[in-house]
Amino acid sequence: MLRLKIVTIIGARPQFIKAAPMQAALQKQAGLAHVLVHTGQHYDYAMSKVFFDELALPVPNYHLEVGSGSHGAQTARIMERLEPILQKEKPDWVLLYGDTNSTLAGALTASKLHVPVVHVESGLRSFNKAMPEEINRIVTDHVSTVLFCPTDVAVKNLEHEGFSLEMPKTPTADTPLVFNSGDVMYDAALLSIAIAEQKSTILSTLGLTPKSYYLATIHRAENTDDRQPLANLLEAFAQMDALVIFPAHPRTVERFKRFELTPSQNVRVISPVGYFDMLMLEKAARAILTDSGGVQKEAFFFQVPCVTLRRETEWVETVATGWNRIVNNEPSVILNAVRKLTPGKAGTLPYGDGQAAHKIIECLLQCTNHR
Ligand code: UD1
Ligand code: UDP
Repeated sequence: MLRLKIVTIIGARPQFIKAAPMQAALQKQAGLAHVLVHTGQHYDYAMSKVFFDELALPVPNYHLEVGSGSHGAQTARIMERLEPILQKEKPDWVLLYGDTNSTLAGALTASKLHVPVVHVESGLRSFNKAMPEEINRIVTDHVSTVLFCPTDVAVKNLEHEGFSLEMPKTPTADTPLVFNSGDVMYDAALLSIAIAEQKSTILSTLGLTPKSYYLATIHRAENTDDRQPLANLLEAFAQMDALVIFPAHPRTVERFKRFELTPSQNVRVISPVGYFDMLMLEKAARAILTDSGGVQKEAFFFQVPCVTLRRETEWVETVATGWNRIVNNEPSVILNAVRKLTPGKAGTLPYGDGQAAHKIIECLLQCTNHR
């Protein structure tokens, strides 16, 4: 008997990773139909297919092939191509992750067709609406029917925006359910690190010994849209006291070319790596410098000190426990923060118990039974 039909919409690198523990949890349930839609927001092998291969994600049932574009064009293309699919599939739920344009497009399309939206990684806020992701998450949360928060802080953020924390009898878009499931990225890291330890050869391939290098990633609009912020970050990296391994997002590589910026000798720019290699690079790094949400948290999971190259973070627990420092864009401030890095507090578990995906599926089954 078919108990539940879910359409999942993914399109960007971190969403493939978040989908992996959910896929594992979905497979354990009988009577559950799962339709996977890849929007095509990310499309290079190293930004997309590598994760399907490594994490054994199924071939998407639909590939929208929208590619890159301005926010409006990309979001609109996804919506236009998604609408007939949702009309045909008639799912019980549309499941979305995070805060990308694929998330926003999925939320708008589904909610206007009155298909209930499930938002995984709900309630995060930077309180900075200059970030495209902040707009995407606020809109998605406010049209969702079930909001799965990764942390207590995310639950509180929603409460401050007027969401009720009472358990509704039947969740609807007007009476949504807010639930702290824990973070699916913690599930993902726990599931994959043991495999990464076995399979990844990245450290020997790059000739790296543990704690002898810094790991850096940059891709946020605020750091890459204009020349000066990116030049400042490269200036800070140039002055670091060790090698900087820099798996560069294609957006950032394109900006290096456009702004005629050349990283210094001690900065080793490499192509984006697969998830297993990335986990190994993170775990063995002396410290991590990043503007990525996921990478900040993985630094925390592996208890590697992190400097976040942004003015704020949604993952405030990493800062509160002393593992993460927020800096501005000044090279001297960044270098000072790196010099002062010390291990944070051990043993806190703000991101759940590694069972977030399982809890999400169980909760959705219960919600479906009540409809
Ligand atoms: C997107 C998300 C961001 C997330 C990030 C994860 C939005 C608004 N932003 O940012 O929240 O943190 O994904 O990595 O959705 N490009 C390629 N090949 C690819 C993909 C992208 O060359 O496979 C280049 C293109 O020049 C493109 C640029 O990267 O214009 C930006 O890609 P886009 O998906 O628009 O935004 P991201 O910066 O990846
Ligand atoms: N990641 C990866 N290879 C890379 C860079 C990042 O596998 O070269 C992984 C990283 O381990 C994390 C996720 O991608 O799980 C983070 O994605 P990204 O930084 O693109 O987006 P964000 O988390 O900021 O939305």
